[in-house]
Amino acid sequence: MLAGSSIEKALVWLAGDRLRSSHPDESVVRDAERGGVKLVAKVPLAEFEQQDIVRVSYPPYDVVVVKTESGFHALEDACNHAGASLSEGWVEDGCLMCPVHAYAFKLETGALVRPKGLCADQRTFQTRTEGPNLLVYDPFKLVLIG
Ligand code: FES
Repeated sequence: MLAGSSIEKALVWLAGDRLRSSHPDESVVRDAERGGVKLVAKVPLAEFEQQDIVRVSYPPYDVVVVKTESGFHALEDACNHAGASLSEGWVEDGCLMCPVHAYAFKLETGALVRPKGLCADQRTFQTRTEGPNLLVYDPFKLVLIG
């Protein structure tokens, strides 16, 4: 993914265009912008037989996976408003509702639907089924600070 010499640089979980203006190797810039995915968890599909909302350990904020008629959706579990666990919330009109102040986050995008503008959108994760498991992936972009 990244050239060996580039790995010597500090890697941080930030997005932005700073790399393009600061890194001389265009291929490294391209790879970093493309990003990648990291496996977060394999969740047995059987866990969704008794419940539609499952919390997955992924420190520091964990991931909440929600099963709906349209498929599986995964968001960061710690609510961006005040840190409540969204896995203790409920689903309403395509949104995951926070159990503490009832902020609504769109399941498909993590966008805060209401109240508008009072906290950031929830980060989303990718999911796919493989055999008896649901795989949860963290998509990310790398930015090199050199
Ligand atoms: S902690 Fe989630 S809406 Fe306030």
